[in-house]
Amino acid sequence: MKQTIAAASPAKEKKHHWQIYCDGHNSQSVMPEYLAKNYWWAYLSPIGVRIFDHPFMVNRILWGQYHKIASDTVKLLAKESDYTLAEISCAYGEIIPKVGAESNAEQVYLFDIAPIQLRQAQKKIRHNHTEDKFTVFQANAEAIPLKDNAVDNSLIFFLLHELPVSSRNKVLKEAFRITKPGGRVIIADYAPKTETHWFHKLAFFRNIFEGLEPFLGNFWRADLEKELKAAAESQGKSFKAGEKKFYWHNFYRLLEFRIDK
Ligand SMILES: C[S@@+](CC[C@H](N)C(=O)[O-])C[C@H]1O[C@@H](n2cnc3c(N)ncnc32)[C@H](O)[C@@H]1O
Repeated sequence: MKQTIAAASPAKEKKHHWQIYCDGHNSQSVMPEYLAKNYWWAYLSPIGVRIFDHPFMVNRILWGQYHKIASDTVKLLAKESDYTLAEISCAYGEIIPKVGAESNAEQVYLFDIAPIQLRQAQKKIRHNHTEDKFTVFQANAEAIPLKDNAVDNSLIFFLLHELPVSSRNKVLKEAFRITKPGGRVIIADYAPKTETHWFHKLAFFRNIFEGLEPFLGNFWRADLEKELKAAAESQGKSFKAGEKKFYWHNFYRLLEFRIDK
């Protein structure tokens, strides 16, 4: 009697739904797992983009502080003129058009790892007729394809709190690497955890924030200046803290760091 032995089929690995957002990327554009896993619904899904990419939506998410922070960020940039700017990842709402129209930047290098975000950015840029100002490309902020000291200023707008610590530190190193001595690194993001703000004090609110934003808890408790110092030192640079603004009883902050010449 002939016996047939069925070839053992290799066990199929169960795919998580968010992994579809990692497919189809090559080694130059690998989608970070933290982004696909935790933020697919906000930044990678077409429905998420349609829902969230409106100034009034971002303003709600940032508890009414968005317009003020975006406007102050652009004013801070506009203290200088005819400079080159790296906008380290796209952001929803009005920040990209405002940077194009009001920041006094001569050339803006805008990049993001997500193609869908770059397409959104391109739409806003075309709508604003600021195509001449922008160079838009796909890149991971942890390994920016710009030369050392390529730009005068770098802007990191609400990106850091969405990154795991190791990515955050790589992004900071990259920001100091690409920014010239005499230039500025500008950061808008959540402020450190306080003892007084209700959203920090009450576990109920804290848990909601930390549930939706899995790396925010670490960012709240991190010593950002220490991390910035280490990042600058890794590039043989140092900096002086410049303007600092805090919003809504120290829930958000806008920071300027000037790299020493
Ligand atoms: C800058 S944050 C902005 C968040 C804020 N809620 C807003 O829209 O104003 C979100 C962007 O960062 C991008 N992003 C996240 N990790 C990245 C990385 N390592 N490199 C490049 N872009 C990244 C996401 O694709 C998304 O477009």
